[in-house]
Amino acid sequence: MEFNDVVRRRRMVRNYTDEPVEQAAIDRIMHAAVRAPSAGFSQGQRFIVVTDHATRLAVAEAGGEAEYVASGFEPWISRAPVHVVICTDKGAYLRRYSEPDKAAAATGQDKESGWVVPYWWVDAGASMMAILYAAVNEGLAAGFLGAHALDNLKTVLGIPDEIDIVGIATIGHPAEDRRSGSLTRGWNPSSDVIMNNHWTAPRVPRV
Ligand SMILES: Cc1cc2nc3c(=O)[nH]c(=O)nc-3n(C[C@H](O)[C@H](O)[C@H](O)COP(=O)(O)O)c2cc1C
Repeated sequence: MEFNDVVRRRRMVRNYTDEPVEQAAIDRIMHAAVRAPSAGFSQGQRFIVVTDHATRLAVAEAGGEAEYVASGFEPWISRAPVHVVICTDKGAYLRRYSEPDKAAAATGQDKESGWVVPYWWVDAGASMMAILYAAVNEGLAAGFLGAHALDNLKTVLGIPDEIDIVGIATIGHPAEDRRSGSLTRGWNPSSDVIMNNHWTAPRVPRV
């Protein structure tokens, strides 16, 4: 698919048909996820691809699916044939920035307190975006949700304490879905967010 079409088509889809996703498509999507950039090439992104039915039900429960259904959404998490639980290993960054080439800069990034911007979250977000675009490129649809009950999800999937869960990407063939109420906010005008050469956006944020 042409890249501009991928960008135009991507939106969070919160309902899927029961058609399975072929393994080759999952592999290509995950290839895009691991090809995302990472600070210092730390490669701290971690992914659990969940296709097992019983595990998807447990992920959906931990992800708060009941609340979505109660507010009028379809059971989009359990119905999605593929979940990618996106995690980050902060320790990979602290270890990488302890290596001689990074430690020589003496930025203090061998410790968490030295990070002005914690890039382990940034890199996970880059992988999340890659997953969403790659799914659209496969003719599929994807959604993303923050995990509401992180500890439960860690237990369900056996995720070690030192690993943080960023959220869950749901992937499948799109079905008719209810759109998020947040979309009524509309897109910000480009002139409010894209500036040329100098800050020119209004100081008072839109509400
Ligand atoms: C970091 C992040 C967290 C999000 N968490 C949730 C979530 O927990 N539940 C949900 O339904 N949508 C979630 N969304 C989806 C946003 O609501 C959605 O991206 C936004 O309304 C714009 O809609 P669109 O992506 O369909 O264009 C999240 C999106 C991002 C980027």
